[in-house]
Order: sequence, then structure tokens, then C-alpha cells
Amino acid sequence: MNGDFLEHYFTNNRNLKSDFRDIKYKYGEIEFNFTSDNGVFSKNRIDYGSQTLVETFLSKNKLLNISSILDVGCGYGFIGIVLSKLLKVPATLIDINKRAVHLANKNIKQNGVEAVAKVSNIYETVDQTYDLIITNPPIRAGKQIVYEMLRGAKEYLNKDGELWFVIRREQGAKSTIKALEDLYKIEIVKKEKGFFIIYAKID
Ligand SMILES: C[S@@+](CC[C@H](N)C(=O)[O-])C[C@H]1O[C@@H](n2cnc3c(N)ncnc32)[C@H](O)[C@@H]1O
Repeated sequence: MNGDFLEHYFTNNRNLKSDFRDIKYKYGEIEFNFTSDNGVFSKNRIDYGSQTLVETFLSKNKLLNISSILDVGCGYGFIGIVLSKLLKVPATLIDINKRAVHLANKNIKQNGVEAVAKVSNIYETVDQTYDLIITNPPIRAGKQIVYEMLRGAKEYLNKDGELWFVIRREQGAKSTIKALEDLYKIEIVKKEKGFFIIYAKID
């Protein structure tokens, strides 16, 4: 089997040569600068699904009184950093990919947010609960990992906390919703270009 085939954005590959690049993002008047690199998800641009998730969440203004955010599978940190800065709320960012976590910590500093990124296989190193858990889950890691992330969130949500995520129709949005219905009250907040933005609250 071709080795490249096994190389995923969540694989820790210390031999992969770095090739840093800058990605800019603007929300209203607020500008963000992200450093990205080889070996992380959506290394050249902000992922459309992640951007739609963040902007849909902000447009709903549902949780303006939140005091903690957990970004699961943070990559170089787009979701957690933008929300932490705009909502002025501390965030924890986690990812299994060490290079992504390193970039996320660099991006936390360069965007001046109160956040920390750490390596975690799903919730392995998470030791507190949060008002908001938000994720663009790693579909390519397989259904089992994605379901563990989404179902497992329940253990790390405060009472009245919310889980928000994005998933594409062809990546199994509907079956994923079905797999969560026993744990959460689910709402599809937006459907755009095949992306579903979903919000789940403990039932
Ligand atoms: C679809 S990407 C989203 C990245 C980032 N949130 C963004 O919006 O650009 C999913 C992320 O989940 C991470 N991931 C994969 N398996 C994981 C696991 N078992 N535990 C934690 N994170 C994981 C990947 O490394 C990747 O960064």
C-alpha cells in the first residue's frame, strides 16, 4: 500500500517538512492572523464548514453568557480562537495532532486570546466541564471516533451547556443526528451548500 495513502491530517508525522503560511480572517472589524503548516487540516485556507459553524453560532447569539469554551479537534485553532476573542471567554483547544496543537498555541498568542491548546485523544486530557463544546469533527478518522467525540461531549458539558458541530450531508449528517438523539435534544440550525450546522442540548 502506498505510504501517502495512510497520511492523514491527524497523523503525527515529525518528518513532514514545515512550510509555514499565514491565513487571515476578518469578522466585522476584528482581524485574525493564523499560522498554518503542512500536516494540519485545511492548511491553506479557513475551512468553509468551520467558518459557517462559527458565523452561524455568532449570528444566533444564543449563549452570550457562556463562560467557558472547549474546541474539540482544534487544528490550528480557528474555531476556539475566534470565539474566545469575540465573546471574551477563555477557551480550551484540544487535538490529537501535536503539530496542530503547537500551531494553535502560537495562534492563541498572536491573536491575544485567553486560551490554551493541548494534545488530547478525544477527551483523554480534559478535566473540567464547559458551557460550550464546539467541533468540526474528523470525519476521516471514522464514525467511531466522531461518535465518541459527539456522544462523549455530554460528560464535559455544564448543565444547560450546548454542543455545536458541523457535518456535511454526504458525510452522514442524518445518521449522525440519529445516533445522538437518545442523549440530546437536537436542532439543525442551518443547512448551507450541503453543510449542516447542528446544535445539541442535553435532554
Ligand atoms: C475537520 S478537522 C477540524 C480542524 C479545525 N477545528 C478547523 O476548523 O480547521 C478535525 C480535527 O480533529 C483532529 N482529530 C482527529 N482525531 C482526533 C482524536 N482522536 N482526538 C482529538 N482530535 C482528533 C484532527 O487532527 C483535526 O485537526
